[in-house]
Amino acid sequence: MTNTSSQLDALRKHSLVVADTGDIEAVAKWKPQDATTNPSLLLASAEDPRYRHLVDEAIGAARGDVALTMDWLFVLFGREILKSVAGRVSTEVDARLSFDLNGSIEKAKTLIGFYEKAGVSRERILIKLASTWEGIRAAQLLEREGIHCNMTLLFSFAQAIACADAGVTLISPFVGRIYDWHKAARKVDDIPLADDPGVASVRRIYAYYKAHGYKTQVMGASFRKTGQILELAGCDLLTIAPDLLQKLSQAQGEVPRKLSPGMPSSAKTPLDEKSFRWMHNDDAMATDKLAEGIRRFDADARKLEKLITSLAAAAVTAK
Ligand code: E4P
Repeated sequence: MTNTSSQLDALRKHSLVVADTGDIEAVAKWKPQDATTNPSLLLASAEDPRYRHLVDEAIGAARGDVALTMDWLFVLFGREILKSVAGRVSTEVDARLSFDLNGSIEKAKTLIGFYEKAGVSRERILIKLASTWEGIRAAQLLEREGIHCNMTLLFSFAQAIACADAGVTLISPFVGRIYDWHKAARKVDDIPLADDPGVASVRRIYAYYKAHGYKTQVMGASFRKTGQILELAGCDLLTIAPDLLQKLSQAQGEVPRKLSPGMPSSAKTPLDEKSFRWMHNDDAMATDKLAEGIRRFDADARKLEKLITSLAAAAVTAK
């Protein structure tokens, strides 16, 4: 019998497929359930001449204020992306607020306020916050006000436990960046899937959440190769960059379910702030990658601010 189904179609039977991109046309092409953005992805899109009108619209809406222009830009990309997805878009809070509980809450509310002004209800937004202790506490409070959160830069089991205990809507464990760290530490070019620490991390978190009845959704993120995605078939959601969506759509074949509720898991481990910090700090990969991830998102946000500042100045000169 000939199998005509692509791996992407087969994967969709087990997991909700999400597009990990700020490229509005790519989202329209892949028609995912949800979409995720981050400051690096939105920097790339803001530099793309196809989306210059959104940068101009954001500059106009913020009337010269750079910080507000950034917020509007993120919201306008989110609004456009939502035209092609049935579900939600994730919009990230400024990385500079990663250790600022009140600042994170205020920024999340500003973003939600701008979305509502743009005609988008909060049900369709996931506010992305770094999975620091402060970020997780901010998410806990935001969730109580009906603002749903996607906890990003998640590398350790401690982060996953704390997010679930805080009742957040969704977590994004980063498969590829865990794999990158271990590849560099082992000085190898590849790690086989059976031994992939990024894949193993998501499997462990998924098993723990399902075993203990947590409602928080697990969305595998940051993939380097299709094999990592297929190894996680069955995960609640998988957010996938357009190049890997393309590869999955071109490959034919069955995709067996790899994750399902009922997998063996460890006992429930309640974490207070001290034990969270200790357990997370004990994981060298996670401490490195969380710190680096905050620096990288911050660096790209600063580049985006510079771009906005120069475009806004050029617009004033042209008048
Ligand atoms: C998605 O939510 C993440 O921001 C994204 O998957 C990170 O991917 P990267 O590690 O390829 O930057």
